[in-house]
Amino acid sequence: AGVVGRKKDKVVVCRDLKEKIMPLLYSREDLEVVLWPEDRACERPWLLENIKGAAGVILVLGEKVNTEFLEAAGPNLRAVSTMSVGHEHIDKVEVTKRGIKVGYTPDVLTDAVADISVMLALMASRNVGETIDLVNRGLWPAFSWSPFAFCGPQLSTSTPNATRTVGFLGFGRIAKATLSRLVPFGVTHCVYSSRPTSKPDPVADAKLAKELNIQEVRRVSMDELASQSDVVFVLAPGGAETRHLINEDFLKKMKESAILVNTARGTLVDSDALAKALRERWIWAAGVDVVEGEPNVDQTHPLVKEPKCVVLPHIGSATIETRLAMATLAVKNLLAGLDGKPMPAPLIT
Ligand code: DGY
Repeated sequence: AGVVGRKKDKVVVCRDLKEKIMPLLYSREDLEVVLWPEDRACERPWLLENIKGAAGVILVLGEKVNTEFLEAAGPNLRAVSTMSVGHEHIDKVEVTKRGIKVGYTPDVLTDAVADISVMLALMASRNVGETIDLVNRGLWPAFSWSPFAFCGPQLSTSTPNATRTVGFLGFGRIAKATLSRLVPFGVTHCVYSSRPTSKPDPVADAKLAKELNIQEVRRVSMDELASQSDVVFVLAPGGAETRHLINEDFLKKMKESAILVNTARGTLVDSDALAKALRERWIWAAGVDVVEGEPNVDQTHPLVKEPKCVVLPHIGSATIETRLAMATLAVKNLLAGLDGKPMPAPLIT
């Protein structure tokens, strides 16, 4: 309001946020909203053309905010809002140099991703990928109920003195939410590995173990993480620093009955090494919501071809509640950034 005669700020929106969210932008008379009109990934040439002179942008994981993008945008750009908690697609150094504010969407997706992490652990251990495929192909009649067919290791236990150790590569909000969901399954121990630069905090670990009423929460080396865990959950950020942390060496050290779950970024896991580990039975099974090179993952991909791997197309945060919350936060971050106010979830201020 009150902008008669003033040039509107252009805002580019790379995905249609639909009727519940778009009005938050359209109701702002001081903004010219330019929306990628299709329900698929925004094409780079369209983005580079339309970002010219923009003051703000809302984008998602596939859209790289790099020098090319920033140069195309020009000096008007002051707010970038990504509808994601991950931010490896944003060149933080270049953005900071130009004084651009960046917002992201942490916290609101923690529950949804923790839920799907548990789901994938169960699906992988109980052969759900293989058995659903069999039913879908009409093969159930060929398999009558049989005592040991399709058995897998049991995630839960209520046997006295039995132990269950869950491991986390990365021990942030989503890892902790996943752990707390697994306590009622009978988990007794939690081991985790964190970035080498972060300070170990055994007091906080002991406090968490006490709160959850489990025997221990302990930071360990990558070797111990591999060898002690019944399930390893990969929940660390993506990017060059963490690329292929799960490789042949790690997978060879895991238990034969263990499960690997990746709900973070595909780049953390060497897909060929994981396919080999599954084929050669170094580990029991895997469940992945993310794959390096996605979305270009088809039936010929080694993990898709591997019956012991459940592959989902990056739907970890895809609940109605969560996606609405992410979209709302993305818009609020953008508007705050444009208005010169603190973003509700700032990444770069
Ligand atoms: C994120 O927000 O980074 C997730 O990967 C999207 O589900």
